[in-house]
Amino acid sequence: MGSSSKPGAARTPADTPADGLAAGAVPAVPVPAVPVPAVEAVQLTRVHRDGRRELKSLDGVSLTVAAGEVVAVTGPSGAGKTTLLHLLGGLDRQHEGRVRVVGVDWQTLRGSDRARFRRRNCGFVVQGLALLPQATAAENVEVPLLLDGIPAPDRRDRVARALGGVGLADEGAKLPDQLSGGQQQRVAIARALVNDPAVVLADEPTGSLDSETAASVVRLLLAAAREHGAAVVLVTHDPAVARYADTVVRLRSGRLEAPGGEGGVPRTGAGPTGGAPGTDAGPTGGGPADANPTAGSPPGGDPTGRGPSTESPTLDDPTTAAGEPRTEE
Ligand SMILES: Nc1ncnc2c1ncn2[C@@H]1O[C@H](COP(=O)(O)OP(=O)(O)OP(=O)(O)O)[C@@H](O)[C@H]1O
Ligand SMILES: [Mg+2]
Repeated sequence: MGSSSKPGAARTPADTPADGLAAGAVPAVPVPAVPVPAVEAVQLTRVHRDGRRELKSLDGVSLTVAAGEVVAVTGPSGAGKTTLLHLLGGLDRQHEGRVRVVGVDWQTLRGSDRARFRRRNCGFVVQGLALLPQATAAENVEVPLLLDGIPAPDRRDRVARALGGVGLADEGAKLPDQLSGGQQQRVAIARALVNDPAVVLADEPTGSLDSETAASVVRLLLAAAREHGAAVVLVTHDPAVARYADTVVRLRSGRLEAPGGEGGVPRTGAGPTGGAPGTDAGPTGGGPADANPTAGSPPGGDPTGRGPSTESPTLDDPTTAAGEPRTEE
């Protein structure tokens, strides 16, 4: 994990134009003077309490991701991968430790500032995350831009570019249920990337896809890092997907297994200049010799079957209370 930074990436609430707030209404957030990692998590611990019982879904996890870097988070079901992504994206405030995104500590942000900062800086790709069913693919992709008050002509251009980027230039008028699962996933990726976020948080984005579609999804995420300087955190059960990351970390029972516990194992031969997978050697084709350690576990499934306990990553309209997490304890 490096320490480079995406120039101009620190889009703070203070430079966010819209949402109907007067300029002075947004509390100032200190803008870091020196380059900072895109993501910096220090000693993250998440405790769930059930009566007198305590469960730590994360236990002292520290992780740094530079701009332009792709970090794969692997580990068995229940290891804490989704919990980690939620904390990195500020979706869950019930934790110990600190998370900074482009130098801004989530703890310094409240309510609509928090939602706005997230929308500007974090793109979420969450498996199974429903697209708005009554909205077309283009309208779904447009949502973050609408919430940010981007003018209509600009919105149209950016939506068209984003859909084109995921190979769905001609599908914008279709409703989600008129699209295949893989196409829906690509719409979700277009929506996550349409704002050119500094940080992309992807939870099993290839979990239920065929190998060719999975390859195209991985290519899109790599392009977000390589071409747009995004820091990408990619949760995956699939070692053939993880091999494209610059760094692979493994969670087990809420702890990072990587040597040193401070971010994991840089991959050899898959550095920042590593190419995207080609169609002939997609992420699930021609994979490394290592057997899939998670074979048999449900892709992206949550063994608890519980509902979400945190705020929505995409529908966090600052005009609603969604900027605040739902707490369970
Ligand atoms: N709100 C909650 N209440 C109680 N336990 C929770 C809660 N959220 C997460 N957990 C527990 O924390 C652990 C980590 O959950 P998490 O969803 O992060 O796992 P995961 O690594 O993403 O698993 P999977 O690969 O199945 O998606 C699990 O044991 C889970 O049961
Ligand atoms: Mg999960």
